[in-house]
Amino acid sequence: MSETPSQPKSPYALEVRNLTRSFGTRKILQDISFQLKHGEILIIMGGSGCGKSTLLRHIIGSLKPDSGEIYIHGTEITRLDDEGMSKIRKRFGMLFQTGALFNSLTVGENVALPILESSDVAPNIAELVVKLKLELVGLTGFEQAYPTELSGGMKQRLEVARALAVNPDVLFLDEPFGALDSITRLTMRSELLRIWEAERNTIIFVTHDIDEAVQLADRVAVMSNRPGRIQQIVDIDIPHPRDIDSQRYLELRAGIYRQIGLAHRI
Ligand SMILES: Nc1ncnc2c1ncn2[C@@H]1O[C@H](COP(=O)(O)OP(=O)(O)O)[C@@H](O)[C@H]1O
Ligand SMILES: [Mg+2]
Repeated sequence: MSETPSQPKSPYALEVRNLTRSFGTRKILQDISFQLKHGEILIIMGGSGCGKSTLLRHIIGSLKPDSGEIYIHGTEITRLDDEGMSKIRKRFGMLFQTGALFNSLTVGENVALPILESSDVAPNIAELVVKLKLELVGLTGFEQAYPTELSGGMKQRLEVARALAVNPDVLFLDEPFGALDSITRLTMRSELLRIWEAERNTIIFVTHDIDEAVQLADRVAVMSNRPGRIQQIVDIDIPHPRDIDSQRYLELRAGIYRQIGLAHRI
């Protein structure tokens, strides 16, 4: 019997090739290509309405492109049917602006739910994972509280714990801190980095905020508007923790402002 050679595992956690998509006669995404390495933080940055969320919805398989391919860990998800896609999606962590908490469930139950849905894990193991994830985001002691009893920042921590509950292959974040006040937003950014340094997740993070991009990213994919394209991918070659007053930070920030056609003077 001849052996079938196994598929080489992709060096990329995610690969998007020539993705194009229109809604009606309007081309929203044109010829989008990029790769994401394991353990990397890629930020998709662009103005409001340029197609960032639409791009993300294609990557998580909620939308199919008109043309182009998307590979996750080497599997072409653009070819999968709903059942195949839902299997892969169980290995995703997702945190979107609208939030996904259940107010009728406790903090602990909110984190346990995706774990129990994604595998046949025993309840006592799930409980242990919940404990670890809540500890990771700084919510130990709040297991029995309800989301409505938490502050905005704490709710976002809970969202992060939920997204991390399944030890996701890729973590998808769409403007996750957009609704928070500016101080809490800064705190959440450093919290996310602290968690990433502990867990080394592969992260794709969408934002319209240039500072958020330069503070968090390994690379920033700058999108243009109408149609949405990747204009440039900028390497953020500053180690963490980043000094946001440093010459290099300011240069990179100014470079991205120029890319999107804005001078940072008002
Ligand atoms: N299902 C849809 N049908 C038609 N147009 C859509 C749909 N979803 C998004 N759009 C349009 O696509 C464009 C990009 O939207 P979106 O991806 O939400 O932008 P962003 O997240 O960058 O703010 C917008 O003009 C929006 O109106
Ligand atoms: Mg959006």
